Amino acid sequence: MQIKTVGVLGCGLMGAGIAQVCAATGHRTIVREVQQTLLDKGLGRIRKFLDDGVTKGKATAESRDATLSNLTGTTTFDALADCDLIVEAIVENLAEKKAVYAALEPIIKPKTIIVSNTSSLCITELAASTKRPDRFGGLHFFNPVPIMKLVEVIRALTTSDEAYQSLMVFATALGKEPITAPDRPGFIVNRLLVPYLLDAIRAYEHGLGTLEDIDKGMKLGCGYPMGPFTLLDFVGLDTTYYIADIMFEEFRDAAYAPPPLLKRMVLAGYLGRKSGRGFYTYQQS
Ligand code: CAA
Ligand code: NAD
Repeated sequence: MQIKTVGVLGCGLMGAGIAQVCAATGHRTIVREVQQTLLDKGLGRIRKFLDDGVTKGKATAESRDATLSNLTGTTTFDALADCDLIVEAIVENLAEKKAVYAALEPIIKPKTIIVSNTSSLCITELAASTKRPDRFGGLHFFNPVPIMKLVEVIRALTTSDEAYQSLMVFATALGKEPITAPDRPGFIVNRLLVPYLLDAIRAYEHGLGTLEDIDKGMKLGCGYPMGPFTLLDFVGLDTTYYIADIMFEEFRDAAYAPPPLLKRMVLAGYLGRKSGRGFYTYQQS
């Protein structure tokens, strides 16, 4: 099945990046948010990335304008009726994701494939909650989406060969490198990355060093592009907390248990870069 029109649910950190990449690769793209203010913020982030790209000489004004002309924002579900593919990138919460599929399914075409960008939820459980378990899968993008090359393609037990092939072709058409990952919590990358990030928080709580020294250690000592606390703030502490909870629930392994400090920071509203404060503080743009 050829995917020409893409609907993206959520215009947060990930949804905005996914919508941008879809539009930049010639797909008619419609991105849905729950409120106009959140939609405007997400679309503003896309515009800024594209404008910066022109300033840096990484893109032309023509390619920026072509991307923007392929992109529409909406707060309705009706605007997604013609989509060949829906990419869901809303909050990492099972009930919210199921509710959004239930609201969407009566509107979209029977052939339309739905994928979740979930970091940790069970793709088979999400698929089974819909009326199209054979046309449902996982497409797990990485943050920042316009820059990171990887996409994990995840098959639910029920995903058809045809839908899986369409997703592999689609990921490649976005200019990404797809890998096939199993429907296990955290797939491949987060299975390894999340315990590392949680371990860094636990080590900090136990006085291993300052945030700056731990970050510098991993950056300069291991060649990681960001230290763990810079990366945690970048991913979002709320999202990391939800992911850890979901992975711990399934594995019952202490390596995935959210550290007490992480929970308290989320409760305090310290969500990382997106809220202006996490392990570090940031200027809000
Ligand atoms: N338009 C076009 N290109 C742009 C651009 C723009 N506006 N801004 C940056 N770029 C390009 C740059 O030109 C550069 O390209 P080249 O390598 O070809 O020169 C590239 O993007 C990197 O940009 P910068 O050099 O400005 O940025 P940087 O070197 O500071 O790197 C980073 C930024 C890519 C985010 C890097 O710090 C990094 O890789 N961090 C780690 C990110 C990571 O681990 N992400 C995964 C998070 S986990 C996840 O996503 C899964 C989950 O479920 C939680
Ligand atoms: P985010 O908090 O930045 O954005 C989520 C957005 O979804 C919010 O703007 C919210 O208003 C919107 N939303 C909520 N319900 C909605 C609905 N019914 N319809 C449309 N929009 C709705 O979160 P994020 O970091 O973009 O994460 C989104 C998803 O992507 C999660 O499943 C997360 O696990 C996954 N993910 C996150 C990262 C990351 O680094 N942050 C990386 C890969 C995958």
